[in-house]
Amino acid sequence: MHEFRYVGARLQCEGVSVEALARKHGTPLFVYSQGTVKGNYERLETALQGLDHRICYAMKANSNRAILRTFADLGAGFDIVSGGELQRAMAAGADPATCVFAGVGKTEDEIRLALKSGIYCFNVESEAELQRLDRVAGRMRKKAPVAVRVNPDVDAHTHAKITTGTYENKFGIPFEKVGELYAWAAKRKHLRLRGVQMHIGSQLTEVDPFEQAVRKVAPLARELADRHGIEFLSIGGGMGIVYRPALASGPATWWLSKEGRKVLNPTAYAGTLMPLLQPLGLKILLEPGRYLVGNAGILVTRVEYAKQSGHKTFLIVDSAMNDLLRPALYDAYHEIIAVERRARRTVVADVVGPVCESGDTFCRDRPLPLMEEGELLAVLSAGAYGSVMSGNYNSRPLAAEVLVHGKRAAVVRERQPVEAIWAGEKTASWQR
Ligand code: LLP
Repeated sequence: MHEFRYVGARLQCEGVSVEALARKHGTPLFVYSQGTVKGNYERLETALQGLDHRICYAMKANSNRAILRTFADLGAGFDIVSGGELQRAMAAGADPATCVFAGVGKTEDEIRLALKSGIYCFNVESEAELQRLDRVAGRMRKKAPVAVRVNPDVDAHTHAKITTGTYENKFGIPFEKVGELYAWAAKRKHLRLRGVQMHIGSQLTEVDPFEQAVRKVAPLARELADRHGIEFLSIGGGMGIVYRPALASGPATWWLSKEGRKVLNPTAYAGTLMPLLQPLGLKILLEPGRYLVGNAGILVTRVEYAKQSGHKTFLIVDSAMNDLLRPALYDAYHEIIAVERRARRTVVADVVGPVCESGDTFCRDRPLPLMEEGELLAVLSAGAYGSVMSGNYNSRPLAAEVLVHGKRAAVVRERQPVEAIWAGEKTASWQR
């Protein structure tokens, strides 16, 4: 469920006209619905009722401070992957004691910062990292709370670039090695074994891989609790969303419903996993990112030109791969709709940005309304891994971001002034 819908001919985000926002703040513009974020969070919370759990929002999906504050106010914890994310979360009002720190390459500086801040746990990805944590914590006369990330060797059936749970990936410790590693770590003076973690990939659209992984890891977690007194099992993130036409039949059809398969929604997810998790008697952590914010954001863009080239039609827009990288990087599908819905000729077109690369394409050969110069399009489901993955390629400033709450809208990131792009650069001393 999300709160972008047509009211009459115009697309609205909650109670605010998207066109009015674009007029006021310019394009490219990310528009976020706070109500959608809250609704997603609450749906998952409701589905998990009765389970001792905590949702740690994977802030890599969207780390705008206003989004983080929304989650902090909802009582969420945070899944962080860098010192920068920890500082950002704290700047937005997050309690470090609710933060889990993931990632394969934590530096000594990052570890020191996290220990000083008092995070809840380090999710550890290698033996070398455990050694480093023990050493750094020792120097600080502290104990580092740790959970080892188990790689359960389960295929998540998702895009190759975002699957993580098989031995082909750089993530985690092979399942068979984990017992040994805990026994070794239990003897380190400056480590405290607090939990065990897994995460098998992102944008999963079936429950089965989660179920397989939990079935494999749950007995191990129980054993580690008995042997080493760990208190939690984190089942990671990865719940997928439906990127394909969702507005077509009204805004409620957000979840996949393929026949004959367990489909993924919070109820199916929790319904399948809770019976496996509850008997463990451990605290269960979840690290969803995309599910919470994906459908809560759109990227609004203006058509600059319509161009005919041979048999192809191109709609050239003022957003590009630097604003939303997912189509260029993963061939990801994002639905694209007109902000003003009216009778238009349908054309089969590519929507492309101005960046000088053929990969700067939001969609190819897709039936779309033939838009005129100056009209607005909305790229849907851009709330997760959208603005966070944006950059300044072609010296394009970072887009502005707006958060909507009912009838109110606030700029939560100013459009980057162009000079800010090169503000940290200098000419060398030998140049005039
Ligand atoms: N936990 C860990 C350890 C992760 O590595 C990730 C995502 C998450 C949680 C959150 O996963 P989610 O619930 O959002 O699926 N840029 C890619 C996605 C990369 C995901 C990286 N890790 C995309 O745009 O599809």
